[in-house]
Amino acid sequence: MHSLENPREDATLIRLEAAEALIAQWTRRHGAARDQLLPLLHMLQEEMGFVGDALVAPIAAAFNLSRADVHGVVTFYHDFRRVPAGRHVMKICRAESCQARGGAAIEAAAAERLGVAMGETRRDGQVTLEAVYCLGLCAVGPNALVDGRPVARVDAGRLDAIAREIAA
Ligand code: FES
Repeated sequence: MHSLENPREDATLIRLEAAEALIAQWTRRHGAARDQLLPLLHMLQEEMGFVGDALVAPIAAAFNLSRADVHGVVTFYHDFRRVPAGRHVMKICRAESCQARGGAAIEAAAAERLGVAMGETRRDGQVTLEAVYCLGLCAVGPNALVDGRPVARVDAGRLDAIAREIAA
């Protein structure tokens, strides 16, 4: 039973219960051998949007692993988001070709235009800015992904357009 007194706390609890149900469903279908841990984490991220620290204990219990084991896996892979993303996500390529084409300056300019540091979500939850490592578009860098859509040859003009689209 959830109270109406603290809706934020209730929402967190409901999300945790939903995640626990997904974990139970997964282990019923696929078992709880260690090789199922990564697929489970990917599924949780897909369904919940992130794999929060509150999920470490129930996952550890379901897989008969230590919390440190599960925490180690979640934090080792950069794919797993540990806090919810902003409404919009801009990823800037930090791999070699894009770096050679001015990626670092683009990162700095994007941070300034979007009002958020690399690797962070803006306080109002509007936008997350983070790194990605090669989008397979190396010849047309520096590149970015904006809400999953590739943007090639990112420059000041493109950054302004992106900021108008996602930062308001
Ligand atoms: S290095 Fe950026 S897309 Fe490959």
